[in-house]
Amino acid sequence: MTGAVRKAVFPAAGLGTRFLPATKALPKEMLPLVDKPIIQYGVDEAIASGISDIVIVTGRGKSAIEDHFDVSFELEYLLEARGQKDLLKAVRAISDKVNVAYIRQSQALGLGHAVLRSRDLVGEEAFAVVLADDVIVASTPCLEQLIGIYRTFLAPVVAVMEVPPEHARLYGMVAAEQVSERVFRVLDLVEKPKAGEAPSNLAIIGRYILTPRIFESLACVEPGSGSEIQLTDGLKHLLRTTPLYAYKFEGTRYDAGDKLGFLKATVELALRRADLGPGFREYLRGLSL
Ligand code: UTP
Repeated sequence: MTGAVRKAVFPAAGLGTRFLPATKALPKEMLPLVDKPIIQYGVDEAIASGISDIVIVTGRGKSAIEDHFDVSFELEYLLEARGQKDLLKAVRAISDKVNVAYIRQSQALGLGHAVLRSRDLVGEEAFAVVLADDVIVASTPCLEQLIGIYRTFLAPVVAVMEVPPEHARLYGMVAAEQVSERVFRVLDLVEKPKAGEAPSNLAIIGRYILTPRIFESLACVEPGSGSEIQLTDGLKHLLRTTPLYAYKFEGTRYDAGDKLGFLKATVELALRRADLGPGFREYLRGLSL
């Protein structure tokens, strides 16, 4: 196995129940953060990290994602005719920069099951998994940071962050031994532990570098928490035969699949924008709620 990571899998077949009713007909991955759909932030991060091939795992009602990454001939024609060069460039860049393939997950049987669906498209090479609801702002893209760790250890790596104990029940949590300032060797994993049962304060977030052996593990695991095949359980199975690392990434992560997280991401990303930030900041300062 070389240190190259060319492919990224984006599981996007979840039901998005935390964001109902908005997600009844609209995939949550297409909800806009300022002016880009959530999934585009993850795809841009992947491209900036050197990924050339993207596999999106979709389900029913997700065709807007496919349209978004496709060429829109009519739109491009119109923008060209109107001389709207900047918009034309932005629209073209979406379909130009990366190869996108799709695979369906016909039933939402869990994140692990969604990743397993990508097996044939990934083949025999290391690959990234990106959960697009986790939007990460970082000076070095989070995926690039993880790929660096993968290159050092040539073993799978999960991104982790410290969470307060009362939030541990929302995440896959790791028991780990520290290797260096930000790197840990994973000893065990627990999906959504009950209060007081988390093995540490390190929570797995939606960025992974995996090797094809994960597919064998996922094919073995039984449905766990929520009757779904959990990626955490697949990783736990993998741990029996393969070293696994956790990396405390540098950057800020927003859970844009959750209403409050989505609002925070919207406000902070808008404030960071050169074109919108100053006016929006002034507006927020003037609010007297
Ligand atoms: P979430 O835990 O956010 O679940 O999944 P969800 O169904 O999308 O949303 P809620 O919790 O009901 O609001 C984490 C990631 O795994 C994908 C989701 O699309 C999301 O990117 N996923 C989850 C699948 O692709 N298939 C599944 O069966 C479950």
